[in-house]
Amino acid sequence: MIIGILNSGGDCPGINAVIEGFVSAAYSRGWRVIGFHDGFEGLLPVAGGRRYEILTPIKTHKIRSRGGTILGTTNTGNFIVRYNKFGRPSIDKDVMAKAKKTITALGLQALVVIGGDGSAKTARLLSNEGLPVITIPKTINNDLCVASDFTFGFQSAVGVVCDSIDRIRTTANSHQRMMVIEVMGDNSGWIALYSGISTAADVVLVPEIDFDIEKVVRCIKARKNSGQREIIVVVAEGARLNGTPVTIRNKDNGDERLGGIGNRLSRELQERTGIETRYCVLGHTQRGGSPCAFDRILGLRFGVEAVNLIEQKKFGSSLVLEGLNVGSVSIEESVKMPRLVQQDSQIVRTARDLGIIFGDREPDDLTSAKPTPARTGKKKS
Ligand code: F6P
Repeated sequence: MIIGILNSGGDCPGINAVIEGFVSAAYSRGWRVIGFHDGFEGLLPVAGGRRYEILTPIKTHKIRSRGGTILGTTNTGNFIVRYNKFGRPSIDKDVMAKAKKTITALGLQALVVIGGDGSAKTARLLSNEGLPVITIPKTINNDLCVASDFTFGFQSAVGVVCDSIDRIRTTANSHQRMMVIEVMGDNSGWIALYSGISTAADVVLVPEIDFDIEKVVRCIKARKNSGQREIIVVVAEGARLNGTPVTIRNKDNGDERLGGIGNRLSRELQERTGIETRYCVLGHTQRGGSPCAFDRILGLRFGVEAVNLIEQKKFGSSLVLEGLNVGSVSIEESVKMPRLVQQDSQIVRTARDLGIIFGDREPDDLTSAKPTPARTGKKKS
């Protein structure tokens, strides 16, 4: 068997672990593995060269601890799915034909795509064309599909955010400041929620729970008046300020992307609370660096299970983490519904009981608005 593997879209910690697991299990069955460079672009011919390499266990041995991806990636390029006015997805016909030609010429019996929702949508189109594709979900946002309890990359990103907030808290405490930390997550609030709980943040603002800035202000003032020195606000990049997401426009191509809510929110909160406030955008630090143990193991398991899926000829499938087990759903299913934070979920209720403010309730409605002793100072006169 000759199998191709590629990763596409934004990188995240754990991709190399998938590649190592896959190559190791594939070679133990006597298969050969071709790794394509820079996402789906590696499937396109280039003048005077090739955009792939043979991956062997010697090459991939112990790369599980390395961040990024040894294959390179892109979240732009020729394979972006476009939609017509009826919502029908497609990629350029010529691009599709070239990709097919490469797959046939190399004699690939399967293609493994490690990717987020955009990549899975491209993979679905290739699969619909009859190509033997399987996908592996990847994103720090943890929002890829309802069927997967976690995606690798998420725990590593949360670890980075926790470490940063722990640091930010000490300086905030010294100066009696409020700190607003903007985190990634796209249109989901998983990173904000998990890092907020882990670091005992005061406020966590996520896209899935509409917040009222006045309620946030009243809750913060209540905490401040009870003698708390520092206030920590974690805001997801996709959270909506006054009902609208905050975006940044790329001057060169006019594209808009989420970003900037940390800055806007810190200004508004400082003005309304009178508390000196700073903001910090953690940005791509969340995607960089070595994967944590959980993501290494999940990545390795996904890599090995991908080989099992190919052996069973379950093409058109996506791997998912179901509880403690790696299972599979159709690629179609994997892109149907993103996995978002549910307002009435146990994790949100737990966060509320721990005193986290989501900005949708008044201070009196909060189950536990009292600061913990470790975070209180003397009540200011
Ligand atoms: O991988 C997902 C993500 O990290 C989002 O949370 C974020 O908005 C986006 O990627 C940033 O992408 P880029 O690398 O293109 O700036």
